[in-house]
Amino acid sequence: MRKKVAIITGSGRGIGKEVALAFARKKYQVIVAEIDTTLGKQTIDEINEMGEAAVFVKTDVSKVDEIEAMVEHVVAEYKRIDVLINNAGISEFCDVFELDETQWDKVINTNLKSVFFASRAVARVMKNTGGSIVNMASTRAVMSESGGEAYAASKGGILAVTHALAASLGSYRITVNAVLPGWIETGKYERLKEHHHKQHFSGRVGKPDDIARACLFLASKENDFITGTHLVVDGGMTRKMIYK
Ligand SMILES: NC(=O)c1ccc[n+]([C@@H]2O[C@H](COP(=O)([O-])OP(=O)(O)OC[C@H]3O[C@@H](n4cnc5c(N)ncnc54)[C@H](O)[C@@H]3O)[C@@H](O)[C@H]2O)c1
Repeated sequence: MRKKVAIITGSGRGIGKEVALAFARKKYQVIVAEIDTTLGKQTIDEINEMGEAAVFVKTDVSKVDEIEAMVEHVVAEYKRIDVLINNAGISEFCDVFELDETQWDKVINTNLKSVFFASRAVARVMKNTGGSIVNMASTRAVMSESGGEAYAASKGGILAVTHALAASLGSYRITVNAVLPGWIETGKYERLKEHHHKQHFSGRVGKPDDIARACLFLASKENDFITGTHLVVDGGMTRKMIYK
């Protein structure tokens, strides 16, 4: 029996890397689809140190031909795809009057266009066996600070394409869900101040592992009923009243 295969985009660092490690621990054959070769190979090294197998496939998810080449390579090599985590994303913010078309397109193409084309590419393979797709949105899909137009649009678009894909792919036993991370600290957690933690209902800022566990939950085989929806993982911040 071949190992289950999980593709995690943007898994060279941060949340994506933790998700890749989590799926490797669960004995998936992990595919690190990442634009940065150095970072991608570092993730492979860490997974190998755990005694598990993983491969790096250099991929710029903003380019449809690179997504399709990556999926073709995975299918040729491993014959199956069970899980896709559409994690790669860039968070660029810009004054509303300064934002130009190039920057808008870069954010939308990297964060949103990639989700549709990667999902469709793996669905062509998953059609035969079923599978799970998890899309990394953000609480900024549903709340804002100034200057976040392109990023918010990309993440709000992910929520919409998630339920559209769930509708189109449900009959093939493919679930499609989104995760909305709040503040997930990918840098030096120990440098955070008490007030950063205390503002959360949970009493702490999030960690990449909080998101990795949400992805494992949504992608697990037992979860064939949860589809077209999203899980907010933000320590309660989007439910907090802030009137002063
Ligand atoms: N960290 C947070 O607090 C937070 C909150 C909400 C949502 N998110 C979302 O979670 C995801 C991961 O966030 P993170 O904080 O770990 O980000 P990060 O910047 O630390 O890591 C992103 C990874 O994606 C890769 N990447 C960037 N562009 C790519 C491309 N075109 N093709 C392939 N790979 C590419 C980067 O090289 C990097 O390895 C993103 O989609 C982000 O929007 C993060």
